[in-house]
Amino acid sequence: MEQKGFTVWFTGLSGSGKTALALRLEEELRRRGLKVERLDGDIVRQGLTRDLGFSKEDRDKNIERVTFVAKLLTRNGVAVLCSFISPYRDVRARSRQEIGNFVEVYCYAPLETLIERDVKGLYKKAIAGEIPNFTGISDPYEPPENPEVMIDSSQETEEESLAKIVRKLEELGYLSPTESEKAYTEEEEALIEARLAALGYL
Ligand code: ADX
Repeated sequence: MEQKGFTVWFTGLSGSGKTALALRLEEELRRRGLKVERLDGDIVRQGLTRDLGFSKEDRDKNIERVTFVAKLLTRNGVAVLCSFISPYRDVRARSRQEIGNFVEVYCYAPLETLIERDVKGLYKKAIAGEIPNFTGISDPYEPPENPEVMIDSSQETEEESLAKIVRKLEELGYLSPTESEKAYTEEEEALIEARLAALGYL
């Protein structure tokens, strides 16, 4: 079967687990033999969108360019994993519309947890006023209203979050279910048993 392209779009505040989850998903999809490309804010902003900052206009341009790339890859059968804060709902909606096969994953954790974690030390600086327009502190974030998947990295392990995404991709028909999940339902099992019994095998 030829691989159907799709984009998994991770959105959420800095430190909410977007990159970590995208990396885990990348590994899982490759293990299943899919072609995968990952587009990540921290990396893309060193190249393709190196000229952009964090004003609303620049963030919108950042997402617009990345969406263009994701669209090309998606229509060529690649599994694209995008991790960007992408704070604006209408811009994400445009990406969804452009790309088509779009699976939105909202990476959530309470702000207090993110401030506590502060993996990159940016929240401390933002709170001290050293980084203007920092999402969640001095710049807005509009949470998705209807994401395909929501994960809470303060409540779930990475494995649990990954499993939720994989299950959704299977449900949506982008991945074929693994053997263990192909097991028959109780009803189907009863039917098969009855047939085998009628044939004299049981
Ligand atoms: S987006 O808003 O345009 O989608 P993107 O995901 O590409 O953002 O980049 C976010 C990353 O840039 C953060 O994880 C952080 O490391 C860094 N960063 C630097 N300045 C800011 C800022 N003002 N707001 C948010 N993130 C910032």
